[in-house]
Amino acid sequence: MPDSYYIEPVQPVLRRFVEDFRNLVDRERGKPGLLESLRAPVERLLDDPGWIDENFRRPRPGETAAWAVYRSQDPDLCIFTMVVPPGEMTKVHNHLTDGWVGLVQGGQLERKFHRADDGSEPGAARLELVAEDPIALGELTPLSYPHDDIHQVVTTSGEPSVSLHVLCNDLGTVERQTFDPNAGTVSDFVSGYTNVDGGSRIGR
Ligand SMILES: [Fe+2]
Repeated sequence: MPDSYYIEPVQPVLRRFVEDFRNLVDRERGKPGLLESLRAPVERLLDDPGWIDENFRRPRPGETAAWAVYRSQDPDLCIFTMVVPPGEMTKVHNHLTDGWVGLVQGGQLERKFHRADDGSEPGAARLELVAEDPIALGELTPLSYPHDDIHQVVTTSGEPSVSLHVLCNDLGTVERQTFDPNAGTVSDFVSGYTNVDGGSRIGR
């Protein structure tokens, strides 16, 4: 199965980003600098986010939508939009990889957490809130596994918030975790993609 684009037509800016990513991975293989090196290509991808059309900005009432834009076969790269309706928020969750998130519509608040326990007790997790920051339109925020990988996103605008995610796995197919910081609990989940049936085909 080849790499998959889910957006038609594939805009040159997107195709160029995937090429840039592939070159970077070849150059940086085994080195720790991939996340920082990725920043400039992600900035170029979001320089004019007009290529992200209405299909990838659609909210799903009562839930967080994740519209796949691109998934690599490897699977070491996925690009998708996350749409959170007004007044709603994601659960506290992790991603188990590195990546960048750029806000392309609306307003968001991001809460970042660190895990304070050693994970030895099944179903239990102690989280500490380490930051709570408004995200500006056009701002890029990093996700870095394992130390800065747990967060929660709240839509603060009257319109749905839309963020473009560029992550170094096939996030929708990865078994990862949600957390309830107040209850001190953790649960496994697989998020899938809103526009991909049987979304677990790549990456498993
Ligand atoms: Fe996230």
